[in-house]
Amino acid sequence: MSAIVAETERLRLREWDEERWAEFLRVTNTPAVMQWLGGVGDAAQMAAARARLDTYMADHGFTFWAVERRADDAILGFCGLKRANAPGAEPLHGEVEVGWRLREDAWGQGYAKEAAIASLDLAFDRFGAERVIAFTAAGNAPSQGLMKRLGMRRLPEHDFEDTRFPGDAAPNPQVTFAITAAEWRAQR
Ligand SMILES: CC(C)(COP(=O)(O)OP(=O)(O)OC[C@H]1O[C@@H](n2cnc3c(N)ncnc32)[C@H](O)[C@@H]1OP(=O)(O)O)[C@@H](O)C(=O)NCCC(=O)NCCS
Repeated sequence: MSAIVAETERLRLREWDEERWAEFLRVTNTPAVMQWLGGVGDAAQMAAARARLDTYMADHGFTFWAVERRADDAILGFCGLKRANAPGAEPLHGEVEVGWRLREDAWGQGYAKEAAIASLDLAFDRFGAERVIAFTAAGNAPSQGLMKRLGMRRLPEHDFEDTRFPGDAAPNPQVTFAITAAEWRAQR
């Protein structure tokens, strides 16, 4: 069994194993979920994504972890932390970044916020972050809404074009949000 990283009222964050990763792909590598993430990925892209998540964990002790529902052990998606490395956001590289991706039938129930709160608690309390940032496409209203509900603030001076996504249909520009440790503790 893969290690449990954190537990919330309804969810677990856990490390990846083959079974959970296969289920994650089945439920999240869909047009709706991937709308703002470059579209559905092929097998090579998804294998590269898994390798990146494993590298983040090995290098820093955190990654975008599996989100599992405690009631039925269903894999809902991922949520967690990485070191910012988006091509185009170089001034912020290395800062702790929070991110999320849930299956479509798990949207609108507060699961993403619950997993994100656990991730931000880990960032500030266990990993000593002074600030946590988040990126999303300017058009991704659900993700920006979550950032605002978490108390994160827009940093318009750090908006950027993500060069992984060339072309007219690219989910650019990317907008940047952030919250400091002091701001997080003041609202917890
Ligand atoms: C971005 C994403 C994670 C947001 O998920 P979400 O479910 O909208 O976010 P939350 O967990 O904060 O849920 C909020 C909604 O749940 C509702 N809700 C229901 N029960 C709730 C509860 N117990 N607690 C909190 N909110 C609850 C809220 O009212 C809100 O609904 P509304 O949007 O209709 O006002 C989701 O849209 C997603 O996975 N998208 C695809 C992948 C993606 O784009 N990822 C981001 C890339 S940067």
